Amino acid sequence: MRRPLTDDSDADVASSREAVRLRDMVSADLPEVMRIERAAFRYPWSELMLRSEMAHEWAHLRIAEKGEEKAPVMLGFIVFWIVCGELHVLNVAVDPDAQHRGVGRALMRAAMDQAKGADVTYATLEVRRTNRAAIRLYESFGFKTTAIRPKYYVENDEDALVMGRAM
Ligand SMILES: CC(C)(COP(=O)(O)OP(=O)(O)OC[C@H]1O[C@@H](n2cnc3c(N)ncnc32)[C@H](O)[C@@H]1OP(=O)(O)O)[C@@H](O)C(=O)NCCC(=O)NCCS
Repeated sequence: MRRPLTDDSDADVASSREAVRLRDMVSADLPEVMRIERAAFRYPWSELMLRSEMAHEWAHLRIAEKGEEKAPVMLGFIVFWIVCGELHVLNVAVDPDAQHRGVGRALMRAAMDQAKGADVTYATLEVRRTNRAAIRLYESFGFKTTAIRPKYYVENDEDALVMGRAM
């Protein structure tokens, strides 16, 4: 996930353990997205940061949800850029109550599939060195550690692993 610098179409994805529906994030989702962000991260993004990502034409923000379309339950979300032939994953978070059921995998799969359809040649991301669950998730998509950025996360001086893979 990128260190913060400042403060469509619908698709059904059948993951291994939870059938989730993916769609683009809209402003009305922000309260629920922020609830998940705060529950999932010790150092969460602010709502302003999410809003600023929504304003970038190269940024893609997707929601995973389940349940009836009239009463959906949000499970998680992903934020990624597709720019200059590169996929950059900035943020992925799953509600702690919905983790370990394939939702994170479904969100990453959606980003990878969209990148493949957009002539992307390389994918990259940063992740906290101690974030074992996320590192394992990214490794399962073929990402490998290419560099270490010492004390990249200023909140607790934690190193970042830079991970990447050719597409
Ligand atoms: C990382 C995260 C998005 C994974 O989402 P998830 O829905 O729980 O993950 P999935 O159930 O799709 O699991 C996919 C793979 O991730 C890895 N994984 C997920 N949770 C794991 C854990 N607790 N320990 C080790 N590996 C884990 C495994 O490789 C797993 O594949 P497997 O089930 O075949 O073993 C989720 O744990 C989360 O939201 N964490 C907090 C926010 C965060 O750290 N985001 C990443 C920022 S870089």
